Amino acid sequence: QRSKLAPTPPMGYMTWNYYADKITEQDVRTIADAMVANGLVQIGYDYIFIDDGWQGGRDNRNNIIPDPKKFPSGIKALADYVHSKGIKLGIYSDAAPLTCAGYTASLHFEEQDAKTFASWGIDYLKYDYCGAPPDKETAMKRYKKMADALSNSGRDIVFGICEWGGRQPWTWGAEVGGNLWRIDGDIRDKWSADFDAPGTPKGGIGILDAVNRNADLVQYAGPGKWNDPDMLVVGLYGRKGPSGDLGGVGCNDIEYQSQMSLWCLQAAPLMITCDVAHMNEATKRILTNKEILAIDQDPLGKQAERKINKDGWQVYLKPLSDGNYALGILNTDSTSRKYNISLEQLGLSGKYNTLNVWTGETKKKQSKLSYEVKPHATIVLKLNQQ
Ligand code: GLA
Repeated sequence: QRSKLAPTPPMGYMTWNYYADKITEQDVRTIADAMVANGLVQIGYDYIFIDDGWQGGRDNRNNIIPDPKKFPSGIKALADYVHSKGIKLGIYSDAAPLTCAGYTASLHFEEQDAKTFASWGIDYLKYDYCGAPPDKETAMKRYKKMADALSNSGRDIVFGICEWGGRQPWTWGAEVGGNLWRIDGDIRDKWSADFDAPGTPKGGIGILDAVNRNADLVQYAGPGKWNDPDMLVVGLYGRKGPSGDLGGVGCNDIEYQSQMSLWCLQAAPLMITCDVAHMNEATKRILTNKEILAIDQDPLGKQAERKINKDGWQVYLKPLSDGNYALGILNTDSTSRKYNISLEQLGLSGKYNTLNVWTGETKKKQSKLSYEVKPHATIVLKLNQQ
């Protein structure tokens, strides 16, 4: 039953990488207004997710409450506000007494908190694992407990498992009632942790690290059950929000466009984290390309298979619901290079018309492809056989 939720990967905004635990209700309203004003909601980014830091403890009946300074009007009023704009609201808790940032969490209060979230109008819960025992059995038990509580809450609430991949949640996440599961540690605004300069804040992974991890998990994804390589860092440019420095030196637009390309090919949830009220043209263009979004949201729900991973080239093939394919060619090298490939090498016979998703260029009846690919760029083609 729970697998009916999130038939395509959830899209929206997640507050952590920009606001961290400084998030306030005014910020959430600003995000909602900006997402409507710049058209993000209308093209499918229809969640706003309040990450850690909203909690203010429990009242004298043990009901979890928001921090009265950060959320003076309460979460219900905020949910009503975003719902009136066509946006769903997500919230965060943890399977231990305290969250990762040290706020009140839901262990032993699962039923009560799920009912509270439902009564507020919450549509999505991200459930973290800081402060919980390391073994897989306990993790499965605690996640199932909350998933069941959500199922009994009287409201459809998407359930995101966030235990960073250590207990291989792709093998049990759907079974315990999860709709998505993080596959790795926290993403930071950088291409790869391999390039961390000495002295920069450590921790977290980069775009390429997440993609490489996700490439091996194709078989576990499908409608209602998604591998989650964490947020889109597109448009951050190393800027620190009210959160201060979570680490990450920033990426260039080619790398941000690659993140978008690869997340969509890998059917990943698309959670924006930049300052949406002040996006530049490049960020808008990357986040709102309709062709790439359609690849992510394709109802077949298949994650692209990595067909080639050799000499700094990665080639991805994603089957689409209309019988056609999306193809991605990633150059992980630091120089611009030419790539030649025949579709036959990918198991595709015959000729295909191609649409280059990012440039709009179309070509007829191709069986061999040849592209110049800039460092860290990803070419995405829609292949169409008529
Ligand atoms: C963990 C999660 C992050 C974020 C923080 C909040 O690190 O992986 O995505 O939710 O906790 O404290």
